[in-house]
Amino acid sequence: MNKKYAALGLSAAMTTSLLAACASTEDATPENGSDSTEVVNVYSSRHYDVDQELYKQFEEETGIQVNVVEGKSDELLERLNTEGDNTEADLFITSDAGNLYQAKEAGHLQAVDSDVLASNIPEKYRDVDNEWFGLTKRARVIVYSKDRVNPEDLSTYEALTEDQWNGKVLVRPSENMYNISLLASFIEVNGAEEAKEWAKGLVNNMARDPKGNDRDQAKAVVAGEGDVAIMNTYYLGLMLNSEDSEEKKVAEQLGVFFPNQETTGTHVNISGIAMTKASKHTDNAKKLMEFMSNPSAQEKFAGVNYEYPVNEAVEPNELLQSWGEFKEQDINLSTLGENQQEAIRIFNEAGWK
Ligand code: FE2
Repeated sequence: MNKKYAALGLSAAMTTSLLAACASTEDATPENGSDSTEVVNVYSSRHYDVDQELYKQFEEETGIQVNVVEGKSDELLERLNTEGDNTEADLFITSDAGNLYQAKEAGHLQAVDSDVLASNIPEKYRDVDNEWFGLTKRARVIVYSKDRVNPEDLSTYEALTEDQWNGKVLVRPSENMYNISLLASFIEVNGAEEAKEWAKGLVNNMARDPKGNDRDQAKAVVAGEGDVAIMNTYYLGLMLNSEDSEEKKVAEQLGVFFPNQETTGTHVNISGIAMTKASKHTDNAKKLMEFMSNPSAQEKFAGVNYEYPVNEAVEPNELLQSWGEFKEQDINLSTLGENQQEAIRIFNEAGWK
């Protein structure tokens, strides 16, 4: 058994958690020895306890052991590049349709034909070739200072380029995939020319040179560096429920505004799952994908991170419901990958650091 974990190249911490997970499934191991134990190997950039709980539930229901390697998305992708056909990974779980697109472009994924996935996951949240599937949705919105901004003054992403917001807009650097996908979506719905105008206009209205992550933009709004920030809603959910009282205090002073409700809709992205081309346990991998798309798993999987479930039969968690329903951009998320290179070009031209 140790040999297998070594082959996966796990860190000490991961091995410990795997052994713990393994111990809990010993009952499910067939009498005739561990060689016949069914397994599925997952590379995941998610790192939540609830994911482990779901894997455990899957193990109990199916007798298939789930081995997980956690890491950052780009590190896992790099690892898939290095390992090629020799990879142990059957499944790749990561955030952003842009990252899933890169895995697809690199030739690491294979199409999965599944009626369960097709009925649980709306078409716009699946790859056009069925090489990846969305699991959770995240909305990239305008977050504003409740003290200084009247939400009635907010309307669209485009309106943030107007004079009223000069020196008041906060957003992270352009190298970040969330922003690349945001601009890729604008190329899709408005065309490249308008997308470029938007990027230039936003750079012109920035409160500071872009730095930090989404949470840092929220903190900067509360610190008074700017009045509005473009960020994903789930960070606000995480901050509101944080054990860090400072983070909580920051989030309490911020409001959520869903832009473009009268026009093109709010930008939505996903985290998703894909089967590797080199998978040696395709049946087991497909079973886990289907399990993750079912309502009971969806509720937990999305809820813990304050994301929206992709399965429309499942209600978002209470906090998300309190922010209200909203109209989403009406595009297939495959286009985020297809427009990725153009988005990067436009960011460079616009001088978005
Ligand atoms: Fe994130």
